[in-house]
Amino acid sequence: MEEERVMDVSENEFDRSMGVQLRPSHFGEYIGQAKVVENIQVMVESAKLRKEAMDHALLSGPPGLGKTSLAMIIAEALGTNLHVISGPAIEKKGDLAAILTNLNPRDVLFIDEIHRLHISIEEILYSAMEDYRLDIVIGQGAAARTMQIDVAPFTLIGATTRSGLLSNPLRDRFMASLHFDFYQAFELEKILAMNATKMNLNLSTEARALMSRCARGTPRIANRILRRVRDFALVKNEPVISQESVEKALKMMEIDTYGLDRMDRKILSVIQEYYGGGPVGIEALCATLSEDRSTIEDVYEPYLLKEGFLMRTPRGREISEKSKVHLKT
Ligand SMILES: Nc1ncnc2c1ncn2[C@@H]1O[C@H](COP(=O)(O)OP(=O)(O)O)[C@@H](O)[C@H]1O
Ligand SMILES: [Mg+2]
Repeated sequence: MEEERVMDVSENEFDRSMGVQLRPSHFGEYIGQAKVVENIQVMVESAKLRKEAMDHALLSGPPGLGKTSLAMIIAEALGTNLHVISGPAIEKKGDLAAILTNLNPRDVLFIDEIHRLHISIEEILYSAMEDYRLDIVIGQGAAARTMQIDVAPFTLIGATTRSGLLSNPLRDRFMASLHFDFYQAFELEKILAMNATKMNLNLSTEARALMSRCARGTPRIANRILRRVRDFALVKNEPVISQESVEKALKMMEIDTYGLDRMDRKILSVIQEYYGGGPVGIEALCATLSEDRSTIEDVYEPYLLKEGFLMRTPRGREISEKSKVHLKT
């Protein structure tokens, strides 16, 4: 059986059993990220007043913080179509060219994991973003010539785990580059309250507070915990969900009191046990963990750094005193 990954980056946010969509459907349901939302709302309103396509925007931040959801809300607010594609899924220049030439004026094209677009494919975007035009080279060698095809004025919304992973020419073509931060516990509490209502669940205050503290600052994880807690409450036939049910669910999910999961703890304990607490170079660390560097750097590290469990030094990663104390518990 494949182990459950709390940080699984899958996009399945639909709660099948309840038939409930947990994605926020408009700005009113989109909690937190005040700075990002403020910027985006101005861009949306301005585009509507100008009756033109909204400016291109880059959304960056760890998985599960609401980038895809925001892109959906933007298209909804603009009253345009949303086309969703994933960077690594595009294999040929022609695929992207076909998508671009099929856009209607003011449509939103959302490219997830845009940093993983192949460079030769990425280059197509430059003139498309800047001049709404495709430069296609036909033929080879001396017979080669460039053909230009118009593209409808559109909005590109790119999502990436780190804006630093984008090439400079691509990054420069976004009018706005907006960074997502981890959510505060009180914001996660609001999200949980909203979703509990959607799922027809009654959460006690303590239950909701505990869930929000253990959700790693991430709405996607808060929702995952909520679903698991719902299962417990159903089986126990609990009218108001108690703190004990949350504790049991967290235990089953192997999430600890700091909201760290098995992989988080594994990272910290490997640094402690194999490298005497560090510093250890990222390459060596990933080899010992047999994990992708990007998974460690983009999915796990940001939260560990933010919460002071891990430090980045010029000589590598080091764990903090807080980690050492926590590992002993
Ligand atoms: N600001 C938010 N308000 C309410 N729910 C949110 C918010 N951001 C994310 N969520 C919840 O978390 C889930 C994951 O968000 P998503 O947009 O898929 O993240 P990302 O694309 O950044 O990985 C959403 O389906 C939604 O249920
Ligand atoms: Mg997403």
